[in-house]
Amino acid sequence: MPEIRKLDIDTPALLIDLDRMEHNIKKMASFFDMQFSNLRPHTKTHKCPVLAHKQLQAGAQGITCAKLGEAEVMAAAGIRDILIANQIVGPDKIARLANLARHCDIMVAVESRHNVADLSMAARHAGSTIRILIEVDVGMHRCGVKSPEEAVSLAQKILESPGLQFEGIMGYEGHAVMIPELDDRRQACLKSMQVLIGARDALLKSGIEVKIVSAGGTGTYNIAGSYPGVTEIQAGSYILMDAKYRSVLQDFESALTILSTVTSRPDKETAILDAGMKAMTFEFGMPELVGVAGAAVSFLSEEHGHLYLEDADPQVGEKVELIPSHCCTTINLHDRFYAVRGDRLEAVWSVAGRGKFA
Ligand SMILES: Cc1ncc(COP(=O)(O)O)c(C=O)c1O
Repeated sequence: MPEIRKLDIDTPALLIDLDRMEHNIKKMASFFDMQFSNLRPHTKTHKCPVLAHKQLQAGAQGITCAKLGEAEVMAAAGIRDILIANQIVGPDKIARLANLARHCDIMVAVESRHNVADLSMAARHAGSTIRILIEVDVGMHRCGVKSPEEAVSLAQKILESPGLQFEGIMGYEGHAVMIPELDDRRQACLKSMQVLIGARDALLKSGIEVKIVSAGGTGTYNIAGSYPGVTEIQAGSYILMDAKYRSVLQDFESALTILSTVTSRPDKETAILDAGMKAMTFEFGMPELVGVAGAAVSFLSEEHGHLYLEDADPQVGEKVELIPSHCCTTINLHDRFYAVRGDRLEAVWSVAGRGKFA
């Protein structure tokens, strides 16, 4: 294909800086080279099979998905070892899950006996085996069993359920991953890991084998990842990062931007961009403008981004880049990534798992 420069890409466009992303993949992989635990990257961040394959090539042992639809996309792209780190509930989805188990080594999180019974019945019906992790509430108070005793009793039920294979436990310390002070973050994460390992110990004491102890996010990858007994880490955002995560953790580089065009200059202090809330989410704050001093995003409306210009004078037609405040939800708005190296376009990749929230 003829060489295309970054600034020739039509806007709004979602860009990956390949050098930075490759740095992030390598940095995370080299951390796990030195650990007993391994990486099972959460692909809900990028939702892109090409990137999942790159993480596996760098040494990750499998991948994590948030949703059944995302897992179906990854399995169709040839990935086998997939954890859905959520409960799958309801007859339609459970039937899809049992069918998917015929095509990959799917693993799913459970927290209730009723759900275990439904999964077992569907797996038997489909003639498949579903791998199971018990989710433990490690302090986030979202999902998961509440005590080691509950974990033991549920594991016993799983072990006697045909069609299911008990693999271990998971606990996501989501309340800890973005605590700004490292010491506070470490304390919160360690407390959660104690709860998780407490559940593992109760299972072992009851004679139940626990192969997998899964936890962690980008903000706690090295704390949970080096905690004795934890076997895998579900970090996702590290691959591309966003402005919010960069404000608490500088271990990884910002590799994701939105390219946008200035479409109007209504007055001296304002520039209007062609990227608004349909191109960038803002639940974690406004996107960060890069490379333009004296200007900042003040507001997003549906199709427009509003820049407040204190000491800048961007012209209509000029292109600017913005770092999204939240990578996972921003990527979900786009059909494709434009992967650039320096100022050259190198590849275009489909965000195939975008919108697969069912
Ligand atoms: C279950 C689970 N594991 C891991 C993560 C880690 O993601 P991140 O790396 O973005 O912190 C998340 C994020 O929401 C999650 O829900």
